[in-house]
Amino acid sequence: MHPNIMKVYSIYLSSVFCLLVWSGQGTAAQYLRDRNRGALVGKLSFLKHNVQGTVYAVDEDTLYIENFHYDGAGPDAYFWVGRRGNLPNRLGKIVKDIAVEKASPLPKFMGQNILLHMPHGIKATKDLKWFSVWSKSSGESFGHVMIPRSLDVPQQRVIPEFSRLAHDLRSGNITILDSKTFYVPDLYYDGLGPDAFFWVGYGAKPDNENGVKIPDENGSYDVISGYNGESIVLTLPNDLTVYDINYLGVWCVEYAHDFGHVLIPKDCGFLPSYSRNIKFLKCIYFSALCMNANELCFSKIIFTMRELDNAFNISLIRKNGSSYII
Ligand SMILES: *[C@@H]1O[C@H](CO)[C@@H](O)[C@H](O)[C@H]1NC(C)=O
Ligand SMILES: *[C@@H]1O[C@H](CO)[C@@H](O)[C@H](O)[C@H]1NC(C)=O
Ligand SMILES: *[C@@H]1O[C@H](CO)[C@@H](O)[C@H](O)[C@H]1NC(C)=O
Ligand SMILES: *[C@@H]1O[C@H](CO)[C@@H](O)[C@H](O)[C@H]1NC(C)=O
Repeated sequence: MHPNIMKVYSIYLSSVFCLLVWSGQGTAAQYLRDRNRGALVGKLSFLKHNVQGTVYAVDEDTLYIENFHYDGAGPDAYFWVGRRGNLPNRLGKIVKDIAVEKASPLPKFMGQNILLHMPHGIKATKDLKWFSVWSKSSGESFGHVMIPRSLDVPQQRVIPEFSRLAHDLRSGNITILDSKTFYVPDLYYDGLGPDAFFWVGYGAKPDNENGVKIPDENGSYDVISGYNGESIVLTLPNDLTVYDINYLGVWCVEYAHDFGHVLIPKDCGFLPSYSRNIKFLKCIYFSALCMNANELCFSKIIFTMRELDNAFNISLIRKNGSSYII
């Protein structure tokens, strides 16, 4: 297993409308698998102008529409959300593509995937009643979906501390930050296990057969040494997510000895692992545009992130093809 995977995100900009495209090598594209799209809200009901698409809640501030179609011919149409009424109505707010600075009437779409940022003050939780492609001037919905009451919007989940079985292992309650990342606060361990690793796997409790080591907080696969109250972040390597495992623990391989572990809940959704980068990408996008207020001087942004340590760099590609690296 090689932890040093690159994630490459690209944003393509067009002068009219901007699409955020998760592209490229390795894991990025796979983040859009079912469990990584977020909570399913539902399919847009087809009403007019060939509106189609499936809506997900990525987190409480972000919606994702997959395979969105719209013929672009309706007057003055916007993505529109509201908290009142049993059907879409004028008492709504524009929800905009995270890749555009200012919402403008929707152009034609032919199956694109779009991330939308919820308007200020509205969360994609039970607050929300409906999502619509709404024509402001004609006051009608071209297609919409009602938000299910039971919608379990992905969020950070707090799970218990490590069980205290050996070598003075203990911690504070652990947080699952997203589907690949754990935050382990106040970790103690005496460091005396001869062959101990952070360990995840299938089954009711750790064993050698169905488990695998994961890198420590610095990305190393070496035997772990002691901890004295540090708070650390552990990242699952490669394509592994919390959905694939039943526990996180500290395990001594040579003596098949469980120093302590915690079980992963199976009945809830976790934040997709790209979700923590969404706001960040948005901010980069704006600063890129602001570098030249008078013209859209870059046509593409490439965001490269190293999974190992989240180090990143950003390349801005000019329209003439030359690049500028931040
Ligand atoms: C950990 O979670 C338990 C159960 O929710 C809670 O009683 C306890 O206070 C938490 N511990 C800390 C240190 O927050
Ligand atoms: C990780 O890196 C930090 C900072 O360099 C260091 O203090 C810590 O001991 C390292 N942890 C491990 C398990 O090597
Ligand atoms: C950007 O980062 C990636 C990953 O660290 C690296 O491979 C690439 O060479 C970097 N590009 C530049 C121009 O620094
Ligand atoms: C592209 O445009 C930039 C900025 O206007 C300029 O500095 C650069 O020389 C141009 N590159 C090419 C290959 O034309």
